[in-house]
Amino acid sequence: MTADQDASNSAQVTPQGKTVDESRVVMGRIMQPPDANSWGNVHGGAIMYLVDEAGGAAAIRHSRRRCVTVEMDSMVFKQPVYIGDLLTVYACVTWVGKSSIEVEAQIVAENMRTGEVRQAGKSHIIYVAIDDEGHPTAAPPLILQHDEERERWNAAEERRARRHS
Ligand SMILES: CC(C)(COP(=O)(O)OP(=O)(O)OC[C@H]1O[C@@H](n2cnc3c(N)ncnc32)[C@H](O)[C@@H]1OP(=O)(O)O)[C@@H](O)C(=O)NCCC(=O)NCCS
Repeated sequence: MTADQDASNSAQVTPQGKTVDESRVVMGRIMQPPDANSWGNVHGGAIMYLVDEAGGAAAIRHSRRRCVTVEMDSMVFKQPVYIGDLLTVYACVTWVGKSSIEVEAQIVAENMRTGEVRQAGKSHIIYVAIDDEGHPTAAPPLILQHDEERERWNAAEERRARRHS
């Protein structure tokens, strides 16, 4: 997503709902020594912090409400992340219920010296939009425009069915 595309998102007002692109978030940070253990491996918790921050921002962008995390459905660490890596989280809304919003976060690590890029992990997090009293409040429906978005929606429905079985 370019900065221009990002800026144009605020102008896309879709009365019947929001598209996936309207709430996409890309968030990055260079990993520092306090994020890691004594061998230089970044802690899972430090990665999850950035994942939750980016995912929450996508849920807030979708609903334009306060959002709280209710469940981390999955969190997979596929490749190690080290001190000095640029960690980037690509977050997008995959599914929306009445007040709940599922976000998928792709985690990418880049070695800043060599340019080597690793798919470091992936997560699915569920947020709930809440009102000023902290009660669940309605979130706009999600408008699916591409096959890839419909596939992510169907996968989210399967995860939801599994959680409720
Ligand atoms: C989020 C919260 C307000 C929901 O309250 P609640 O009384 O459970 O609300 P409901 O049972 O009416 O559920 C509301 C929605 O959340 C969903 N939900 C609740 N718990 C869930 C869970 N563990 N996993 C997935 N979805 C969940 C429900 O399916 C429902 O979705 P829908 O509106 O799309 O149909 C409440 O659980 C809460 O405040 N939790 C603490 C959140 C928090 O502090 N997070 C950490 C810091 S951000």
